[in-house]
Amino acid sequence: MLIKGIIQYAHHLLEESVTEGEVVIDATCGNGNDTLFLSHLVGNTGRVIGFDIQKEAIEATGDLLKKHHRTNMTLVHDSHAHMYKYVSSQSTIGGAIFNLGYLPRSDKKIITQPESTIEAIDKILPILKAKGMVVLVVYHGHEGGKDEKQELLRYIMQLDQKNYSVLRYGFINQKNNPPFILAVQKK
Ligand SMILES: C[S@@+](CC[C@H](N)C(=O)[O-])C[C@H]1O[C@@H](n2cnc3c(N)ncnc32)[C@H](O)[C@@H]1O
Repeated sequence: MLIKGIIQYAHHLLEESVTEGEVVIDATCGNGNDTLFLSHLVGNTGRVIGFDIQKEAIEATGDLLKKHHRTNMTLVHDSHAHMYKYVSSQSTIGGAIFNLGYLPRSDKKIITQPESTIEAIDKILPILKAKGMVVLVVYHGHEGGKDEKQELLRYIMQLDQKNYSVLRYGFINQKNNPPFILAVQKK
């Protein structure tokens, strides 16, 4: 077996825990790569709810999914912190991904913020199915990234081990603040 790269491993965790027909969340659509991946994973009977605060990201994601003839998604131009406006607090979510940081080839000042990221995770965990996972890809080399990383680690490390398993996965011999994964699995 080869060691999986960061995105590859993030997707692997979701492949292992998400089932066809489920509703899943892409909390940061960006260019739509994760949304497309999730769209295939849940199949035509499932649904992806995707969020982004940038209109260009929502458009890029819509274009990518259209190119691949995918229609099982709802793309929301709003913060993931407001998710209960779009996803019922009574529903069940099969899994979620947060790809943090800024939109590649765009304004590097528009970044995910620790308060809204944590607020969104706090909203997903109660409606996550048992054995479901929230997978976070933490980029922290940019301005503001270090603060988000620290606050996120603080928050995630205090999740009760009776209810959640929390994993950190990353490469420790890479230069320039390599991204790493935080995954929370509900017991
Ligand atoms: C690293 S990119 C995501 C990459 C994407 N998943 C992909 O596959 O291309 C991070 C995205 O998070 C978005 N973002 C920042 N704050 C957000 C928030 N509060 N709610 C939703 N999206 C947010 C940014 O606009 C940016 O597009």
